[in-house]
Amino acid sequence: MSKKTLLISSSPRCEGNSDILCDEFLRGAQEAGHTGEKIRLADKEIHYCTGCCACIQRPGFCAQQDEMAELREKLLACDVLVLATPVYFHALNGPMKNFIDRVCPIYTELKNKEVYFVIAAAGGAAVVESTAQSLRLFTDCFDSFREKGVISVTGVWGEGEVKRTSAIQHAYQAGRAA
Ligand SMILES: Cc1cc2nc3c(=O)[nH]c(=O)nc-3n(C[C@H](O)[C@H](O)[C@H](O)COP(=O)(O)O)c2cc1C
Repeated sequence: MSKKTLLISSSPRCEGNSDILCDEFLRGAQEAGHTGEKIRLADKEIHYCTGCCACIQRPGFCAQQDEMAELREKLLACDVLVLATPVYFHALNGPMKNFIDRVCPIYTELKNKEVYFVIAAAGGAAVVESTAQSLRLFTDCFDSFREKGVISVTGVWGEGEVKRTSAIQHAYQAGRAA
């Protein structure tokens, strides 16, 4: 069965390590016959949640007018959701947290996603795990979401350094198997 894959890439860097892993995952998924799209949050105008709680009064409604409306539609429609972040202070980065907070208007409508995390770190396994856990604090809110894998690269500081690691193949294989 062909699945719709949505990759949310939160690195602000053009040649970000986590962003490159997203491209490899997508390449694998497309070769396996799935459709997919990568969204770079840095290319989108997404304001932060102001906590007005209009969406609590009126589910589905958001008081803000920006590009998050389009992303919420894509999120509802996808079968496979890939959340990609660099590690910033042992956890997900600001743009990813901002995106997650703005999901609130469709919180009760989101169902049945297969979820992958893509994580890039200068450090090692411990920061990958703390960052995966920070993403899980969101995805575990949804009983019908199923976590399918964590694709990570460690020991990379500079942009594009992931290209010299085996994480590239892991990301591609995970996409193919999605
Ligand atoms: C503000 C900031 C905080 C960071 N904090 C950590 C950290 O706590 N642990 C770590 O291993 N790497 C940390 N890093 C390094 C990045 O995770 C690393 O450079 C990663 O490869 C960036 O991924 P990207 O290229 O996808 O943006 C930090 C980088 C920045 C800019």
